[in-house]
Amino acid sequence: MSQLTTAFTDALGLDVPIVQAPIGSATCPALAATVADAGALGMLAVTWRDEEATRKILTDTKHRTDGIFGVNIVADSDAKDIPTERHVQVCLDEGIDVFSFSFGDAAPYIEQIHSHDGTILQTVGNASEAKAAVDAGVDILVAQGWEAGGHVQSTVATLPLVPRIVDAVPDTPVIAAGGIADGRGIAAVLTLGAAGAWLGTRFLATEEAHVHRLYRQRVLEADETETVYSSLFDEGWPDVPHRVLENATVADWKAAGQPEADRPGEGEIVAETDDGTPIRRYEDSLAVPSIDGAVEELPLYAGQSAGLTQKEQPADELVVTLAEETIEALERAN
Ligand SMILES: Cc1cc2nc3c(=O)[nH]c(=O)nc-3n(C[C@H](O)[C@H](O)[C@H](O)COP(=O)(O)O)c2cc1C
Repeated sequence: MSQLTTAFTDALGLDVPIVQAPIGSATCPALAATVADAGALGMLAVTWRDEEATRKILTDTKHRTDGIFGVNIVADSDAKDIPTERHVQVCLDEGIDVFSFSFGDAAPYIEQIHSHDGTILQTVGNASEAKAAVDAGVDILVAQGWEAGGHVQSTVATLPLVPRIVDAVPDTPVIAAGGIADGRGIAAVLTLGAAGAWLGTRFLATEEAHVHRLYRQRVLEADETETVYSSLFDEGWPDVPHRVLENATVADWKAAGQPEADRPGEGEIVAETDDGTPIRRYEDSLAVPSIDGAVEELPLYAGQSAGLTQKEQPADELVVTLAEETIEALERAN
């Protein structure tokens, strides 16, 4: 797959410029390791895992693959309990050398990671954030457009965002995220000057992704018009916009005139985790397989790329397909 060599694949030693995006608790050792074995970058989202759980998934993943994988940490302290510096140290102790930060600055952790020869990625949503991150010493940027699934950092769509960021930081590899779900999308962002593509929603539909089957099914069935951008599911991580699939919780809230307080079913318990912890209607909980209850009423995080996500398949097969489609699309364009 040498046709797909970029500054990003060179920097990390990947075969293809494809990233299985951090997709919260849907990431797991099986997913990250399978992607890494296929020559793409696997990511583990550790933000909502405590020290012990973080060590465990890192160790499990290392046992499964000799490929390349990294961790993602949401830097916004409102999102979590464990201090970021501590989380970074735990990952460094486990030998991790690829770190991605989102929803906040990587700057406070750059020295800590660079002193271990680690590589730092930061997600940004506009050109001035991109310049500030590069000035602070970030190695690789992720430009996440508004059409992305999950929590969203930008108000700008991927198509205008990527070239703006590429122009702002011409010497830094930029990876495009948001709205990419097949090789045509990857070819498009490479043409815009990106050095790689970061796919979240499409990897939710893999066999390895740690998601409830009803959630995966909704992602597979959804078309491009069925996502909603709002700050509705704000319990646990307030005031950060996110994109989810339309469901009963969203529909009832819309029907009630989109109130900010006293929303329909506010505080109501809709599901529970396997240890019996209740999940309230507007909580930010991701629908993992062990959740019991009204799973379809939870935030079903997904991007507009859900329309292009129509097949459940093993993650390694997906990486191969994406790479082949990208080469075909680039050849067609030539
Ligand atoms: C279920 C889900 C969970 C996500 N969790 C995280 C996360 O933990 N950290 C993060 O930086 N981004 C997270 N994101 C955003 C993705 O990393 C990525 O930017 C996004 O999925 C790209 O858009 P796409 O869904 O169209 O591929 C999440 C996205 C989804 C769909």
